[in-house]
Amino acid sequence: MTKDFQIVVTGASGFVAKNVRKYLSERNVKLISISRKNFKKFKNETKIVSRNYDEKIILPKIKNSLGLIHLVGIGKQSVKNDFNLINVEFTKKIVNLCKRGKIKKIVYTSGLGVSKKSSFGYFISKYQAEQLIIKSGLDYTIFRPSYIVGNDDLLTKYLKTQIKKGEIQIPGSGKYSIQPIYINDVSQILYKSLIEKKFKKQILDLVGLESFTFQKYVMLFSKTTKTRIKNINLESAYHAAISNPNNEFGVDDLNLLIGDFKGNHKKLQNMSKISFQSINELLDSGRLL
Ligand SMILES: NC(=O)c1ccc[n+]([C@@H]2O[C@H](COP(=O)([O-])OP(=O)(O)OC[C@H]3O[C@@H](n4cnc5c(N)ncnc54)[C@H](OP(=O)(O)O)[C@@H]3O)[C@@H](O)[C@H]2O)c1
Repeated sequence: MTKDFQIVVTGASGFVAKNVRKYLSERNVKLISISRKNFKKFKNETKIVSRNYDEKIILPKIKNSLGLIHLVGIGKQSVKNDFNLINVEFTKKIVNLCKRGKIKKIVYTSGLGVSKKSSFGYFISKYQAEQLIIKSGLDYTIFRPSYIVGNDDLLTKYLKTQIKKGEIQIPGSGKYSIQPIYINDVSQILYKSLIEKKFKKQILDLVGLESFTFQKYVMLFSKTTKTRIKNINLESAYHAAISNPNNEFGVDDLNLLIGDFKGNHKKLQNMSKISFQSINELLDSGRLL
């Protein structure tokens, strides 16, 4: 039987959204999912396709939902879509939709390391989006994720493509660390944050239990393949990111990676009480390849 409440998901065709929607659908949660483009819907799901998130179309359908998971965001800017427009202004629009639709709770994925001291574009926009949500008067849970990994996240896709080419390039020393978290754990926690009161008005790092240097992560990821690992000069990596908009690493991707951010897994564990997937084990099993 379906649950007697419904949840709204924005950015429905994105990596995290697809997995979260599947997870919620399998748990018989009624879903309203919104995307700019057509997508395949799951069981118990109502689909809204609207390029500009047209309020007239959306509002009547989302009214009185239990909560909204806001997963629209960009990590790379272009002249048409910059961080302010998508990460900040779009969030403002979604906050207003929540208020007008009498949706009391919003769940947002910001970024690990975001703070009032943030100094680069991507993090500044995430901080500003967080502030909009905090000051909105809505209940919220803000998550600050490290790399969320699964089968088709950006990092995993990047590594798989490089493996096919026979060489993985690591910007700089590779000694900076990442703290990946498995997508299924993320889906579970996002859901819990909507239905469990203890997540009310919380800001939590969304990180796995293990930290890896990037070099080590790449080694473990590719260990059963015969891929060469090559450290590339950081200046060259930034030059490629600045001069080629299609470069695998954008400027802010490099900032994020080299930022060496670490999160508080213990707090997440204590609050969520879930049994986290070890990323070491995941890499060992070859399931990400
Ligand atoms: N994946 C990670 O490791 C990670 C880590 C930290 C933070 N996050 C944050 O978590 C959120 C989801 O991440 P993700 O990995 O699922 O990203 P994703 O796959 O790129 O999905 C983001 C979605 O945002 C929507 N979007 C993008 N540009 C838009 C625009 N101009 N107008 C309206 N909607 C637009 C798109 O949804 P539609 O195509 O359906 O319209 C897109 O699929 C993002 O805010 C991201 O910054 C992710």
